[in-house]
Amino acid sequence: MYRSHSCGELRLSDIKKEVTLSGWVQKTRDKGFMIWVDLRDRYGITQLIFDEERTPALIVEKAKTLGREFVIQIKGTVIERESKNQNIPTGEIEILVNELTILNESIVPPFTIEDQTDGGEDIRMKYRYLDIRRNPVKNSLMFRHQVGMQVRNYLSNEGFIEVETPYLIKSTPEGARDFVVPSRMNEGQFYALPQSPQTFKQLLMVGGMDKYFQIVKCFRDEDLRADRQPEFTQIDCEMAFVEQEDILNIFEGLTRYLLSEIKGVNIGDFPRMTYDEAMRTYGNDKPDIRFEMKFGELNDIAQHKEFNVFNTAELVVGIAVPGGASYTRKEIDKLIDWVRRPQVGALGMVYVKCNEDGTYKSSVDKFYDQDDLAKWAKRTGAKAGDLICVLSGQTNKVRAQLSALRMELAERLGLRNPEEFAPLWVVDFPLLEWDEETERYHAMHHPFTSPKPEDIALLDTKPGDVRANAYDLVLNGNEIGGGSIRIHDKETQALMFDHLGFTPEEAKAQFGFLMDAFQYGAPPHGGIAFGFDRLVAILGGQETIRDFIAFPKNNSGRDIMIDAPSNIDSEQLKELNIKLDL
Ligand code: AMO
Repeated sequence: MYRSHSCGELRLSDIKKEVTLSGWVQKTRDKGFMIWVDLRDRYGITQLIFDEERTPALIVEKAKTLGREFVIQIKGTVIERESKNQNIPTGEIEILVNELTILNESIVPPFTIEDQTDGGEDIRMKYRYLDIRRNPVKNSLMFRHQVGMQVRNYLSNEGFIEVETPYLIKSTPEGARDFVVPSRMNEGQFYALPQSPQTFKQLLMVGGMDKYFQIVKCFRDEDLRADRQPEFTQIDCEMAFVEQEDILNIFEGLTRYLLSEIKGVNIGDFPRMTYDEAMRTYGNDKPDIRFEMKFGELNDIAQHKEFNVFNTAELVVGIAVPGGASYTRKEIDKLIDWVRRPQVGALGMVYVKCNEDGTYKSSVDKFYDQDDLAKWAKRTGAKAGDLICVLSGQTNKVRAQLSALRMELAERLGLRNPEEFAPLWVVDFPLLEWDEETERYHAMHHPFTSPKPEDIALLDTKPGDVRANAYDLVLNGNEIGGGSIRIHDKETQALMFDHLGFTPEEAKAQFGFLMDAFQYGAPPHGGIAFGFDRLVAILGGQETIRDFIAFPKNNSGRDIMIDAPSNIDSEQLKELNIKLDL
């Protein structure tokens, strides 16, 4: 038996017990006549004491050879500590050791395995298995497990069945590039790894499964960010015989259940906002509504003077920064530099200080009088003491720029409290999105999303105005889920492919299997997928999903621990009939 107890278990009530513990040496303190060792496992840390007077001499000698991260087993007696440590649950006891076995030695680890480590990001990624021994990473993984258990609980109780779908498939378009896998047995052909199980879950509905879910890996070859990994996990769901309202209710229920079970936070009905309103009010389809700073559009009250920058702009829009009137000239200049960074891309920024005495001081006093500025303040909701920041230009660009500024300022002002949760449904997404690069429309969600029946007629005349039965769940400014009601008849699906620029032959070659299935009594259906990593991270009070993934990739999509991706040998290439021309 390697252990009778874990390293997090023993208390004063266990005094005098003979115990066996196994674990890693976190650190040793050698006072000559007395050696203390902190022994760690997943459950905690227990202090061991080797004492010249009470511990056999050979054992004390052996204890002196222990280094960090050695794996040991000890036997000993639980005794009361003289100087207690109230910071850890086992802090009132220690183990007087009388047997010591070194199970495995360790070379010196490249960083200290403690909550506050001296290891940088790269080195910790390279030795991720050591990083996982640290509490912050270990706790995040345990937290993820707990969220997963509750998700399964809830969905299972609601009658959902978990079904696995294949990973070696044909492309499912979700807007990113596919990772592909060459097939040895089918020369020159490739599987694609699923960007999501979208088509399969729809086929499960045709198969009569009615309520499906799966906690499933998805693969997308896209640019990485803090909230994106090339392989990530979805809570993927689909239901038959449902309308949008049914889906919103079930998944609002899931989110509410998780917030309550895991965070002890109780939230009533989630607010809903149309995509149009989100874009107008926050410049963003995933607004953080924990704080105000709503957009005030100023065109009608800012384009009547000689200020040409505004007069020629498609949109003039501002936000009020609470308390910002006290910013110094230097601080405001820094803010202007911030919006002019290439990542944000604004050309400049107009500002108005709303003084405590009710007067205004702006960077455009030459053009606008106090009455004008008072109207701007009213429109942006600015109060005395606030600063109004105004950007202008092409609508989509300005909205994105001001939205970035809004988030940055909220961060600086401490308005993004990770322990406060503000969910929001964004509904009525456009069906199609114009792509400047390819100069054609793309499906905003995916090509299987149903247009709103009342908008179908617009498909030929104003495709950009067609709204979809599509929705996103936003939590604290992060898109944590997205879904839609699907097309379930062959004709509408064919019409959709046509509008997306597929020839009938291309549509048949790529998605014939789905359109065929629709001919055999496909029920009306719809669904949603949550980004599991994102959900877990946000519930855990963070926005970087990497910390909640056991073995994540770095920003270049590499696993630097196992060094992947990597070359494969020529034999393997030959077998796959792949010729590299590098
Ligand atoms: P969508 O593409 O919106 O929908 O994806 C659903 C959710 O998955 C998360 N997500 C990601 N998380 C981490 N890394 C990524 N690279 C990444 N990409 C997406 C987001 C997102 O909201 N099949 C549809 C769902 C449906 O229609 O039912 C789909 O995949 O949180």
